[in-house]
Amino acid sequence: MSQERPDDRWEVEALYDLCFAPGRELLSSYRLRDGVPPVSELCRVAKDEGGIIGGAIRYWPVRIGAVQSLLLGPVAVHPTAQGEGLGAALIRDTLERARALEWGRVLLVGDEPYYRRFGFSKIEGVEMPPPTNPERVLALELRPGAWQGVVGEVTRKT
Ligand SMILES: CC(C)(COP(=O)(O)OP(=O)(O)OC[C@H]1O[C@@H](n2cnc3c(N)ncnc32)[C@H](O)[C@@H]1OP(=O)(O)O)[C@@H](O)C(=O)NCCC(=O)NCCS
Repeated sequence: MSQERPDDRWEVEALYDLCFAPGRELLSSYRLRDGVPPVSELCRVAKDEGGIIGGAIRYWPVRIGAVQSLLLGPVAVHPTAQGEGLGAALIRDTLERARALEWGRVLLVGDEPYYRRFGFSKIEGVEMPPPTNPERVLALELRPGAWQGVVGEVTRKT
């Protein structure tokens, strides 16, 4: 696994296009990413022996009022490599790096049955831009108590 480099960008975009439904960039979570640079240290790719990218993860900074959080995603693994632990490896590796970089909290929009193995759980009172199903808004503390008392709308980091 290595940090995504500028010349990996279009291969990562192509992987996301392949793995997600068309129109992924119309999802409300993308409004939080528009015009904001990702957290480059946490944008990582997994390449095979031939240098082909089989999995990728990116993170963006977001705000809830005065509080900062990471937004995990998109994360995707090529259909021919799914179910082999690559997604989990990318997520675990980057969460450890995020903790080492002293980020306190992480949010994502996704399937709780997949993400609970990493410690994510549904969070009440933290609102992603509509239309987001609140059941899919999941949070993880990297620092104990980091989500305590945090409520409100998630907004773009300006
Ligand atoms: C989700 C994704 C990143 C997981 O990567 P991966 O390398 O295939 O996953 P892993 O090998 O680490 O884990 C596989 C396990 O997760 C489970 N899993 C995968 N997606 C799941 C989901 N959406 N809900 C519940 N479980 C899921 C698999 O059934 C498998 O279960 P098992 O360990 O009991 O066999 C990958 O499948 C993918 O790119 N999917 C399409 C894009 C996507 O949905 N991204 C996530 C957006 S929220």
